[in-house]
Amino acid sequence: MKMVVKKINEDSIDFAVIEQAGHILQAGGLVAFPTETVYGLGADALQPEASKKIYAVKGRPSDNPLIVHICCMEDMKKIVLQLPREAELLAHAFWPGPLTMILEKNDNVPYETTGGMDTVAIRMPSNKIALALIRAGGGYIAAPSANTSGRPSPTLAEHVYEDMKDKIPMLLDGGAVGIGIESTIVDLTESVPMILRPGFISMKMIADVIGTVRMDPGIIDAGSALKPKAPGMKYRHYAPKANLILVEGAPEHVAAKINKLAAAHIKAGKKVGVIGTEETIGYYGQGAVLCIGGRQEEETIVHNLYKILREFDRLGVDIIYSECFFTLQSGEAVMNRLLKAAGHQVISAGNSGGDSF
Ligand code: TXA
Ligand code: MG
Repeated sequence: MKMVVKKINEDSIDFAVIEQAGHILQAGGLVAFPTETVYGLGADALQPEASKKIYAVKGRPSDNPLIVHICCMEDMKKIVLQLPREAELLAHAFWPGPLTMILEKNDNVPYETTGGMDTVAIRMPSNKIALALIRAGGGYIAAPSANTSGRPSPTLAEHVYEDMKDKIPMLLDGGAVGIGIESTIVDLTESVPMILRPGFISMKMIADVIGTVRMDPGIIDAGSALKPKAPGMKYRHYAPKANLILVEGAPEHVAAKINKLAAAHIKAGKKVGVIGTEETIGYYGQGAVLCIGGRQEEETIVHNLYKILREFDRLGVDIIYSECFFTLQSGEAVMNRLLKAAGHQVISAGNSGGDSF
């Protein structure tokens, strides 16, 4: 299948293109499109055969449910059994935006879309191209991140092209996404609302709106026997091809440790990648060193994370060492993705204590 790539500008949307893409969706086809978090791979969520195509194209396990994207608040009511008060409060506070809510589904949503579950994930994105496309496609667009299953999520149209070329009929190229990691997922079917996937909207921001909320214990502790409740969080995910190892400790100790390890690998004939920050980049002298952003501007770290992991794939490195990023708002989300990408391999820089960063 030849993929048509259409450039589209969020500030002056070409509605002829949106209409064309909407027709593909309504006919049961797939369209990749930008959202403010990452690029999505869309299909009509109410057509079982359309949702099934997403699984086939991504190579996604069939038990991993899809998020249904909507373009106006009222549409949420039409696909759920009941609308809890918390859902209305959170929608008012964060929609359109990077928050996904899990609610009990009604019969309008096929099990092919929810991976066999009785609940449905719903999100109203803020990207205007996404909103226009959802409307043109009929109002309910199932969309996982537009990567091949297991690869880092796409934050540029080029990333989607790499993974989806020849597999889908259309890609809307809206340039670089704004945020760079997937939405926060909060499950409102639990007696105490539970975060199943941390994201740009932090646990504290959610708690400020609805009171008590907890983190899914299954995603906190790698060693625990608990399974994450979001099926997608149990797979090794967001992963570069190379082996990724995180190093924690005080900045100068981390850099010294990474330099030492990198030198040994290079001597043994391996290609090494290093993820540093604006504050530390000058410390590194070994291997392919990429700067993920500045610790003082955490949104830059969020924005560049997946891009950097894909860049190391392109460079063909064998092993990647990264610092850890416990930043204020999005630290839990960034570390969650990095830990998963690293298969939870974390080593200590042997720091004598004090300021971990
Ligand atoms: O930012 C985002 O959320 C992006 C953009 C495209 O909107 N989408 C995205 O979708 O990240 P995906 O499919 O890559 O991740 C969806 C996650 C998976 O971990 C899945 O298991 C979980 O949401 N999920 C979906 N429906 C669920 C449900 N009913 N119960 C529990 N987890 C669910
Ligand atoms: Mg994904």
